[in-house]
Amino acid sequence: MNKVLSILTVCCLLQTATMAQTKTGIAIIPEPVKLTPHTGQFILPKELTVQAPTSEKMAPVLDLLKKKFSAATGKMVRVKAVAPAAAIKLSLNKTADTVIGNEGYYLSSTAKGVNIRANTEAGLFYGLQTLFQLLPKEIESKDVVTGVKWTVPAVEITDYPRFGWRGLMFDVSRHFFTKKEVMSYIDNMAKYKLNLFHWHLTDDEGWRIEIKSFPKLTTVGAYNVKREGTFGDFIPPKPEEPRNYGGYYTQDDIREVIKYAQDRFVNILPEVDVPGHSLAAVASYPELSATAGADKYTVRSGEKIMDWSKPGHPALVDNTLNPAGEFTYQFLDKVVGEIADLFPFGYMHLGGDECAKNFWEQSDAVKDLMKRENLKTQEEVQSYFEKRLEKIVESKGKKFMGWDEILEGGIGPNAAVMSWRGVDGGIQAAKLGHEVVMSPTTYVYIDYMQGDKVMEPHVYASLRLSKTYEFDPVPEGVDAKLIKGGQANLWTEQVYNIRQAEYMTWPRGFALAESVWSPAAKKNFTTFFSKVEQHFARFDEAEIKYAPSVYEPDFKAGMNTDGSLNVALTSEVTGLDLYYSFDNSYPDNFYPKYTGVLTVPIDATQLKVVAYKGKKQVGRVVTMPIAELKSRIVKAK
Ligand code: ACM
Repeated sequence: MNKVLSILTVCCLLQTATMAQTKTGIAIIPEPVKLTPHTGQFILPKELTVQAPTSEKMAPVLDLLKKKFSAATGKMVRVKAVAPAAAIKLSLNKTADTVIGNEGYYLSSTAKGVNIRANTEAGLFYGLQTLFQLLPKEIESKDVVTGVKWTVPAVEITDYPRFGWRGLMFDVSRHFFTKKEVMSYIDNMAKYKLNLFHWHLTDDEGWRIEIKSFPKLTTVGAYNVKREGTFGDFIPPKPEEPRNYGGYYTQDDIREVIKYAQDRFVNILPEVDVPGHSLAAVASYPELSATAGADKYTVRSGEKIMDWSKPGHPALVDNTLNPAGEFTYQFLDKVVGEIADLFPFGYMHLGGDECAKNFWEQSDAVKDLMKRENLKTQEEVQSYFEKRLEKIVESKGKKFMGWDEILEGGIGPNAAVMSWRGVDGGIQAAKLGHEVVMSPTTYVYIDYMQGDKVMEPHVYASLRLSKTYEFDPVPEGVDAKLIKGGQANLWTEQVYNIRQAEYMTWPRGFALAESVWSPAAKKNFTTFFSKVEQHFARFDEAEIKYAPSVYEPDFKAGMNTDGSLNVALTSEVTGLDLYYSFDNSYPDNFYPKYTGVLTVPIDATQLKVVAYKGKKQVGRVVTMPIAELKSRIVKAK
């Protein structure tokens, strides 16, 4: 009973602190563990002196601090190891403070200045990200902004993360993103205290990392035919079409990105996706395939190569590596070796997802392997492959990780699992004693549409901001110690450029950040969303794209008893007024306001809806074809 009461008290205190954030206009994402606002503020002086430890690890942090402050404020910023009168003081604890751990910090701001204290440089970096969020939004500007009162509200903050693995996956294979674009993506995630960049470097559509032992992986495997539209349904390219769309990172590029990420305390998890999703590798080295005729294969350009409608999703061309061929393992030994030498992070991700087995079933070599190794099913064949690969990865000093399919047919002894098909794979793996990272489609597949499909490039499923916000990496009944954390995944079939990658990532990345950093008891969607709106304004300053889909309603079509069509509108956030038209004109806040289910006029062809907050339009006008509403009723039947 006492325990229940004290849990309730802690919850109330946490909730009060969260409320305090919004009342004061303070909007920190992710929500800190404890924040106490005080009256008063610190006004930045004309010239800013920062006292900070000047270790090698601090140098890039201080460089970022100087650049960011002077870019937006135009102020001269000086950093000194000893400066008793400094406005901002960063200090490292001499003996480790057990409350804040390796990444936490204390931040205290008063009328006199700001103090940030941590056990590590990472903690100071995160304290600084919080400080930036305490400053006016214009701090995000790349150019000097005049007329701003540069103030920091008086607060006391104690903060540290819930999980050590706070990840975002970025697929650079389906579409290629330059080194600079990747860096900007990492920069943005680090501002929200995400610390793990999962770099999906290979797939059917492109091999993106230079491997010196196998140069054709990038001379051949990094390029396909440029197509635009709805990826996946493209007309197969003709042989004469130029294969010049794509690109890759040299090993020097990779080192540069790793250093850039390290400067922001972001680890990089490289992924080579095998044995499925390997058409780019097979097109470069057909001897990797168990199928005759693979020498005619080309890197995929978005045409159909799998049949997702059938069980086991058979492949139409064999995009798998030959699990029965010794060359496959020699190849992987070299590839894994070169990648292990490049990336300092202790884990390597080797894919394992969605491997079609229909070509393996036909292969004499695979049949012989099954006899020789007493393998009963194709899942056991994949398990044989994964276990050999795990040994290769371990021989290079890394820990092996794969998507949850590596559980099928028997998981290797030390493998870590990334659970994507819901949380069940993660639960099963944790019960078997394996480390798990949760990244379930249900909450964190940020390639899914975040609003109605009439407004978004079409992906087969939807994931709204409020649903992502419900993400909790630790499901019931699992040993929390084995859950390393969580991450969101951005697959890029329908993402052709970095602006769209930003759009898909934010604001759902904010929800992810709170799910993996903040105490679960401090999460509150209403409070969170009021902060999100302030961060939208910050993104406007920083010129980062984000999705306004959260302001756009969901449409539910129905039938009246007289057979006429009706439609109900619902919003995932409160405080919006929705205005609509059926006359094909663009509604504003002088149009009819939505108050309840609408009957669709018999001749109408479009319903247009727009959201307002008071007199301000928020989000976009949504145009919903009436034919689409009708088809949804038919589909629902
Ligand atoms: C996956 O989404 N195929 C891991």
